[in-house]
Amino acid sequence: MTLQAGSPVTQPDTDSISPLETESTTLPEPEAVPHPAPRSATDPRAALLGVYRPPDILFVRGEGTELIDEAGRRYLDFTSGIGVNALGHGHPVVSGAIECALASGLLHASNLFRTAPAEELAVALARHSGLDRAFFCNSGAESVEGAIKFARKWARSTGGEDKHRIVAFRGGFHGRLGASLAVTDRPDYRKPFEPLMPGVDFVDPLDREALDEALDPDRTAALILEPLQGEGGIRIFSDDLLRDVRALTLDRGIALILDEVQCGLGRTGTLFAFQPSGIRPDILCLAKPLAGGLPMGAVLLTEEVAEVMVPGDHGTTFGGGVLASTVALSVLKTISDPAFLTEVARKGELLGSLLEKVRASRPAVVREVRGKGLIRGIELVEAAADTVTRVREAGLLTVPAGTHVIRFLPPLTVSDAEIRRAVEILEAGLP
Ligand SMILES: Cc1ncc(COP(=O)(O)O)c(C=O)c1O
Repeated sequence: MTLQAGSPVTQPDTDSISPLETESTTLPEPEAVPHPAPRSATDPRAALLGVYRPPDILFVRGEGTELIDEAGRRYLDFTSGIGVNALGHGHPVVSGAIECALASGLLHASNLFRTAPAEELAVALARHSGLDRAFFCNSGAESVEGAIKFARKWARSTGGEDKHRIVAFRGGFHGRLGASLAVTDRPDYRKPFEPLMPGVDFVDPLDREALDEALDPDRTAALILEPLQGEGGIRIFSDDLLRDVRALTLDRGIALILDEVQCGLGRTGTLFAFQPSGIRPDILCLAKPLAGGLPMGAVLLTEEVAEVMVPGDHGTTFGGGVLASTVALSVLKTISDPAFLTEVARKGELLGSLLEKVRASRPAVVREVRGKGLIRGIELVEAAADTVTRVREAGLLTVPAGTHVIRFLPPLTVSDAEIRRAVEILEAGLP
């Protein structure tokens, strides 16, 4: 197959694609500029902090699994906004819930007051997860920050002042803020911002002896891990490993925090990635797909941990707002349907088997295929960046995980035909 630029399928409706260009949103010129005009006066890209390096494509619309740029070119979106758009783009469940929330005129009241959507969402999450309570926030990193605070307070209440250390897994990624960066094993992300929060021990997840030693009943408050490491290169931990760490942590009075920000909420083919192991964590972090594209995170916790947290111990202005909670409730209802999850698992098998065929036919180029459900990765022998660029130019959006792995995170609503097309583009774009 030859590579082609993402092909225009229909011409874009220019009236609706770019609200930035409509008159009503044109901003007035500032009256006086007290300093030299910023670079962004001539290049809008220069107005955003340069912590990302996006390609020069301006997306203006989304439809199902596709993103559409300003020239009307369509791209298969196998990134889902890094695992966020679980129902794809423009799904009626998401837009319907947004409209419903808007109709009430109440978008936000803060946690100073009760609102129904946050309570209903907390009840639904408790029913599905087996955990008793929820704290809502706005991102994955924030959910990890909360989880670490809750675990530390609980552990100190049971084991005294020294019981505050956090054990984290090598290869793990938990976010870019304070505590979440401190438990993230990425030296390049950490180094410029040191000193980070102290009291963190990293262990190789497969080194049982090191794990045994690190989980100190007198000093360790919590063990945090992703059941499937996303940023770390699509690495799955077995149900046996999850059961083992659960037994160890229970035995030693250590909280088990599972970070399912990326792998949770249906992505692996079960609502939560930990479920097939039969364990129950003490604390569960969720975010990305929770509110169908709106920013939202959640920390779910057992009653025992929740009990130590009292008014004033933690907070957030926006967490659990009416708009995000209303949408999340609808997304959760859709994703938690057993028939929907069975389809995710089936389509995941299809994606996995097609990628495996690519590996078998190109063993000198593809080292390994990993993943579960609709979170898959292929590890290349050489760095992944050039292939990611080539397949993007051919109309397939993917995201690297580390230097050598190309990650596939399609919407959970992706079709079989889209999966087949994506794998064809990938195969043609390999070195
Ligand atoms: C497992 C995991 N935890 C936490 C985070 C941080 O989430 P956010 O970017 O929403 O802060 C991520 C983000 O990729 C993640 O994959």
